[in-house]
Amino acid sequence: MSVEERPAVETRPEWAALAQHRDRLGKTSLRALFAADPGRADTLTAEVDGLLMDYSKNLLDAEVVQALVDLAEASGVRERTEAMFRGEPINITEGRSVLHVALRAPRGTRIEVDGADVVEQVHEVLDRMAAFAERVRSGRWTGHTGRRIRNIVNIGIGGSDLGPAMATQALMAYGDPSLTLRFVSNVDGADIATAVRDLDQSETLYIVVSKTFTTLETLTNARTARRLLLEALGDEAAVGKHFVAVSTNADEVRKFGIDTDNMFGFWDWVGGRYSMDSAVGLSLMLSIGPDNFRAMLDGFHAMDEHFRTAPFAHNLPVLMALIGIWHNNFHGAQTLAVLPYSQYLARFPAYLQQLDMESNGKRVGLDGRPVQVETAPVVWGEPGTNGQHAFFQLIHQGTKLVPCDFIGFLRPVQGQLPDHHDLLMANFFAQTEALAFGRTADEVAAAGVPPEQVTHRVFPGNRPTTTLLGQSLTPYALGQLVALYEHKVFTQGVIWGINSFDQWGVELGKVLAGRIADELVAEDPPALAHDASTNALIGRYRKAAGR
Ligand code: F6P
Repeated sequence: MSVEERPAVETRPEWAALAQHRDRLGKTSLRALFAADPGRADTLTAEVDGLLMDYSKNLLDAEVVQALVDLAEASGVRERTEAMFRGEPINITEGRSVLHVALRAPRGTRIEVDGADVVEQVHEVLDRMAAFAERVRSGRWTGHTGRRIRNIVNIGIGGSDLGPAMATQALMAYGDPSLTLRFVSNVDGADIATAVRDLDQSETLYIVVSKTFTTLETLTNARTARRLLLEALGDEAAVGKHFVAVSTNADEVRKFGIDTDNMFGFWDWVGGRYSMDSAVGLSLMLSIGPDNFRAMLDGFHAMDEHFRTAPFAHNLPVLMALIGIWHNNFHGAQTLAVLPYSQYLARFPAYLQQLDMESNGKRVGLDGRPVQVETAPVVWGEPGTNGQHAFFQLIHQGTKLVPCDFIGFLRPVQGQLPDHHDLLMANFFAQTEALAFGRTADEVAAAGVPPEQVTHRVFPGNRPTTTLLGQSLTPYALGQLVALYEHKVFTQGVIWGINSFDQWGVELGKVLAGRIADELVAEDPPALAHDASTNALIGRYRKAAGR
């Protein structure tokens, strides 16, 4: 039975079984679960390739895990995974294959779309990117006036920004320190203005990244960048040395005025939010070099193979997806906090917001009917330890259930400041312990707290966390981590019966913004046909602008 034809998830016996398990565990605490099973931390831990996932501090036991695995088996996760890896058009609303896994498939692997081997095409582009990156990094590619390129400005938004921006920061320690990397995404002019104000245009390379090459924000910023470059260098011919494009749309790239010899392509079977390991990662490759970029791809691929082949009970992305479903659908959790204990991963929660919420923020199933269960959680987070001094209060003692992913590493990047790392990780371990086990009234009283203050200082505990513990934040480890979350999101989408690969929900705002943009600048007062609130706000704006 195809995934589209499967009965809705909430009607399956496996769903009902999980509801029973929730009732069975009832008010059981993590304290009680740990006390009852000394082997719990071992049993509820999975590891692949140096990346450990300890999920024992979640509100579940081995029977729940088995019931969740049964749900995944019954939901067609395996079949759907194979269909994705085979290149079938599983993105049914856009009629496209979903083949980000081909972006990191080793040379010589064969995956076909419409009879053509896409892996060969992937490696052709990777080779061109590597050759270009070497030329820029070695100084053989110079700017129009012959000066070496020292600044790289990535212009893109959404998947054409968040991935490379996140990864460039994550792997900054592997980056060439003589290169300055900037990322411009917002159409707010403040973004490009501040990004380039201290840059010498004659040493600046702009990478315009847009899958469609029609995105308003990106094209507006790219036009401004070209104007700034021409103002500084005064010669149209400079564009060829200072602009390259990353896109699937050669026609629009040409129309914009970038030579397609300076274009790095990708394909419609790569979703924007799944594209950081394609040519979209060119800025990252320029920073860390082709070898480190390939090491990252190896990490992605290793996780792909693990996801595809490991039994669900030991499969990190599947387990992570199932734990999310347990909290989201059986405990009413509305959010997921992602808390990297790594300043290098500061942008990882923002990256995951698009990956998860643009993929699974859906309310209609593959069969076109409304889904009857909760889908994607609100994903958010900040690096530890900063979050501890800001919003952790609510996670510890608030009224909401906030499941958390804690991400940390055994060793600091390239051995940097190990004494800091010890303190960072002490906090990392302390937080998941405190969240799970809390502090009872008796323990608080025994610590000498005055009786009238005891309730204020009680930590209820039972706050679920999953710990991801890697070796060190290398390019390979970053690839593993991103692929882990990609496949988690995929697995959840399959179980909920939704299409994780379209994003129709962003269209309406774009259409309205186009109309309003004209209305804001029209010479004569336009006949506004919005609601009363929007009409009044537009009127106020026009008045302030003297129109
Ligand atoms: O509007 C949403 C979106 O289409 C994202 O899915 C995408 O990552 C982003 O805009 C940018 O699109 P493009 O790469 O085509 O400029």
